Amino acid sequence: MGARSAVLSDGVVTLRAWEPNDAAAVFRACQDADIQRFLPVPRPYTEASARDFVAIRRADWDGDEERSFAITDARTGEVLGSIARHRRAAHRAEFGYWVAAQARGRGVATRALRLMADWSLAAGFIRLELFTHPDNHASGRVAERAGFTREGLRRAWNLDRDGNPEDAIFFVLVRGDPPG
Ligand SMILES: CC(C)(COP(=O)(O)OP(=O)(O)OC[C@H]1O[C@@H](n2cnc3c(N)ncnc32)[C@H](O)[C@@H]1OP(=O)(O)O)[C@@H](O)C(=O)NCCC(=O)NCCS
Repeated sequence: MGARSAVLSDGVVTLRAWEPNDAAAVFRACQDADIQRFLPVPRPYTEASARDFVAIRRADWDGDEERSFAITDARTGEVLGSIARHRRAAHRAEFGYWVAAQARGRGVATRALRLMADWSLAAGFIRLELFTHPDNHASGRVAERAGFTREGLRRAWNLDRDGNPEDAIFFVLVRGDPPG
């Protein structure tokens, strides 16, 4: 892993690069029905899926396009979730995240997204975006609380596991927008 890996923290959550030992926590978290519904993760999600995920996301730090973090409890170090930034253009990045079911509803995803957004704006990105399934109201709230604004709905943006088109709601933060 490159020496460029970063650690971001607000004192409650700490984002750090994935470590091989995290695979067990990823395996447990990704059995969750909402993660399997709203993210294109393997199904069934096996221990090998988790090991592959950690290895690939850890290797992100060897290049410039992808930045992936484990979201951890700043006090205990427990792995609470995942957040990643994908460069889509020189000025534009997309985010993806999940939080383990037992850690939901206490602002973990919102904190992680705020940290990533601030870090990315400081790195020179101008447009930050993410998209959610229209039924994924919790993720939409995370985006809005982190300072993203609902931009609109893109029709047939994704295909589901059976090949059926799904709409996506885009949330966007452009440099200069009020802080979340
Ligand atoms: C979406 C997800 C990351 C949220 O994580 P989290 O740490 O619980 O999020 P937060 O606690 O920061 O915020 C959750 C917000 O959603 C709200 N919320 C939770 N469930 C909700 C629901 N069913 N409908 C509407 N709002 C909901 C919470 O009340 C909170 O908003 P509030 O503070 O205004 O009340 C988590 O539920 C998850 O991992 N889901 C499965 C994977 C996924 O959907 N990832 C995102 C793909 S775009």
